[in-house]
Amino acid sequence: MASTTGMRGGGFYDAHSSGQRAAMDEFLPWIVEAMADLPLPTSGSPIALLDLGSSEGANAIHAVGAIIEALRERTSADIWTFFDDLPTNDFNRLFANLFPDTKRSSRPPGIYPAAVGGSLFERVAPASSLHVATTFNAVGWMSALPATRLPHFISPSPPTQRASREGVSVTPEQRAPFTQQAREDILRFYRARAVELKPGGKLLVQVFGRNDEHDTANGIVDGLSDAMLDMVKDGRLTRDVYEAFVLPVFYRSLPELLPPTGDDGEPPAFRVDKAEARECRVPFNEELVRSGDSRAWAESYAGFIRAFSEPVVTSGLPNTPDRPELVEELYGRMANRFAADPERYEFHFISLGALLTRL
Ligand SMILES: C[S@@+](CC[C@H](N)C(=O)[O-])C[C@H]1O[C@@H](n2cnc3c(N)ncnc32)[C@H](O)[C@@H]1O
Repeated sequence: MASTTGMRGGGFYDAHSSGQRAAMDEFLPWIVEAMADLPLPTSGSPIALLDLGSSEGANAIHAVGAIIEALRERTSADIWTFFDDLPTNDFNRLFANLFPDTKRSSRPPGIYPAAVGGSLFERVAPASSLHVATTFNAVGWMSALPATRLPHFISPSPPTQRASREGVSVTPEQRAPFTQQAREDILRFYRARAVELKPGGKLLVQVFGRNDEHDTANGIVDGLSDAMLDMVKDGRLTRDVYEAFVLPVFYRSLPELLPPTGDDGEPPAFRVDKAEARECRVPFNEELVRSGDSRAWAESYAGFIRAFSEPVVTSGLPNTPDRPELVEELYGRMANRFAADPERYEFHFISLGALLTRL
């Protein structure tokens, strides 16, 4: 079963992704600095950069722009910039972001942007064609959901102690097939990039995840589960809908993100130059500390969740004429719960980053 249908389009993701931007910015300097020793093409051939999971593009263009700036310190070679996402992505918005001045071409000289449709867990570029690949906040989306059902929760990441509720749980046995799926996904991701990148090519992988203290899932999945269960209690959704729904996102630890070391007999395709898990700033949390306005915090927090989850949540609800109102109600209830009890839904963004070189 295909599990991911992309972000909410029409500019909504761009407007509600300052959290993802902050998480990206934790590790963007790593790839920018790595441009100093990138092997450059000779004889006038172009440099090729690929960003995977670019969404509507505001954040991806920010990242690729920083990489281009560093490359321009060394070379005036032509540069292809490829932006990949699932075919359901709002690529119109991506191009609107790439060409903000619609009256004439606003493309910087020597930079050639192009969109690529395809899953980042598969090959999306020709063999040995890329110098740099990046991905931000995307590899946590699972390529498919295991057959296992999670009848007592909506995510393989279990509810936190502080958000406990009767009948809500995920057992280690229920979580195990999701861990396995996430492992297979990341292996396929590295295999595809190993073929596409040239020797010496650089790969930056950044994604939301967890460390020993916090899991980015907490708050998000607790809020979504509580809002759904409230609607079940009030007869707005059936229990079946809740039991069948799983948010297809896996929040990895840092070791779960890294490529195989070569111990399994296959020679490693990448050298890991740096890897870290960092708790990063969350703009709406900072605003809460500044203003103390928990209603504004709740609205921003729910908007952030809605921007990445609305398409999958919508497809999990029954396809009845009132589905749009049910979706509206769900996110409204979530925001009300956040505003009423900020501590229960405390949010920490753990950003994982790894900088790798193709051997
Ligand atoms: C949270 S957004 C991140 C967007 C942007 N990179 C950022 O950091 O703001 C995740 C993006 O990954 C895309 N995505 C999820 N699974 C994917 C897959 N298998 N292949 C390509 N893109 C995928 C989604 O469609 C979405 O646009």
